[in-house]
Amino acid sequence: MQNTESKQPLTRILTGDRATGPLHLGHYVGSLKQRVELQHTHDQTVLVADMQGLTDNANDPKKVSANILNVVADYLAVGIDSNYTTICLQSQLPALAELTMYYSNLVTVSRLERNPTVKSEIQSKGFGRSIPTGFFTYPISQAADITAFRATLVPVGDDQLPMLEQTNEIVRKMNSLAGKEILVECQAMLSNASRLPSTDGKNKMSKSLGNAINLGATEKEIKAAVKSMYTDPHHLRIEDPGKIEGNIVFTYLDAFHPDKALVAGLKEHYQAGGLGDGQTKKVLEECLLEMLAPIRARRTEFLADKGQLIDVLRKGSAAARERSQEVLHDVRDVFGLNLL
Ligand code: TRP
Repeated sequence: MQNTESKQPLTRILTGDRATGPLHLGHYVGSLKQRVELQHTHDQTVLVADMQGLTDNANDPKKVSANILNVVADYLAVGIDSNYTTICLQSQLPALAELTMYYSNLVTVSRLERNPTVKSEIQSKGFGRSIPTGFFTYPISQAADITAFRATLVPVGDDQLPMLEQTNEIVRKMNSLAGKEILVECQAMLSNASRLPSTDGKNKMSKSLGNAINLGATEKEIKAAVKSMYTDPHHLRIEDPGKIEGNIVFTYLDAFHPDKALVAGLKEHYQAGGLGDGQTKKVLEECLLEMLAPIRARRTEFLADKGQLIDVLRKGSAAARERSQEVLHDVRDVFGLNLL
């Protein structure tokens, strides 16, 4: 908890999510849970990255616009509280786009080409030679997101490390041009939860592949997802010994079941033989149903009052807009562009 006697400013945190779909269990263990804790001890801003979402969805903009409020509802449903966290919308902060323009003069095309995350995204999205410029340069825009809040801590998954590296290169370059420290370097805060695998155990979680469990999943969807979950393909008969490693049911039990001793017992039994996948899935199903029921209920409640969600975004964006303008002013100063 915050020590009210100390005058030390709180460490600034900035995180964000592309608004391209509702959030799922991977987001929950990987970052949402931590944000709920961090909001009480840190100065936390969470950015709904609608502009970044558009960088590969400009032909289907509804995929972004229709998900903005879903993402905000997901945040609030898991306990991110707008009294403690600034929740803002990227497209409503013009300083971010302006910073991106200035920073892009400091980043070479070949440097962008070396970004491993963007490289693999370009491949998996099948752009071929038709890579949207905005997509190719989104690491620069992400650097704008982070630096605009002078964030020193960025809780992200390890796939985002190249973005933070790029951000810090820009920070060093700007500071060296300025001859003083106008921007601060950031550090990743990697969650100690390992990345949650998709329910098929094969791919990255994605809505189109139907291998993710959304925070708002219905009971029916949760049951279907658990039922189809990848286990041990060699565990054919109940009496056969089964494998835990790579068995997604156990990975999820480890991530979500509150009773660790019970899970340890199940693992032992499964490995020895005599425990069927139907039984382990039943335990997981019950655990997920119980965990997601209150989240789903709150999410539905929030989504029933869109005005309230918009209000949260409006207030958060107004505060964030003001903050980001300060950094923009400092950056313009370096280039001598505060004439008027
Ligand atoms: N690239 C992040 C993702 O795909 C989303 C994001 C946008 C972000 N801006 C950010 C993350 C700033 C951290 C900081 O999930």
